[in-house]
Amino acid sequence: MELTFLAIKPDGVQRGLVGKIIQRFETKGFTLVGLKFMDVSKKLAESHYDIHRERPFFASLVEFITSGPVVAMVWKGDGVVASARKMIGATNPLISEPGTIRGDFGVSIGRNIIHGSDAIETAQREISLWFKDEELVDWQPQISTWLY
Ligand code: TYD
Repeated sequence: MELTFLAIKPDGVQRGLVGKIIQRFETKGFTLVGLKFMDVSKKLAESHYDIHRERPFFASLVEFITSGPVVAMVWKGDGVVASARKMIGATNPLISEPGTIRGDFGVSIGRNIIHGSDAIETAQREISLWFKDEELVDWQPQISTWLY
């Protein structure tokens, strides 16, 4: 089944939004298969955001993501990559729809609370960057027979 990588950024952690955010993905019906509370090294941050290396906001983005602990997660479910992106909302929280995580909790593009992989191939790259194979749990909650 499809997997995606999500990370609650330092602002989401500092603002005490971890529980609320995880709850949204749980109640939607997705399955948590990996979870780490961790500091992010500069090397990991630069590698994660490699695609933005030449953008003017790259340095401040890396500084922000390494500025405090993050919650790194892998979630599983049918269509989870695109659905999680919908649940997260547009990059700029002022434009994100109400009902999305960024739309409900944020105001600034530089403090937009959560990261979510933007495509299946990106998810695969990000999961292997952030997690070792043995850190992912292969399980299926019993409730899934009532979801699928
Ligand atoms: P991006 O991958 O375009 O957005 P998303 O997180 O929605 O996939 O950009 C990565 C992060 O870079 C974004 O979450 C916030 C930051 N960023 C800025 O600070 N300024 C900007 O102009 C853009 C486009 C992104």
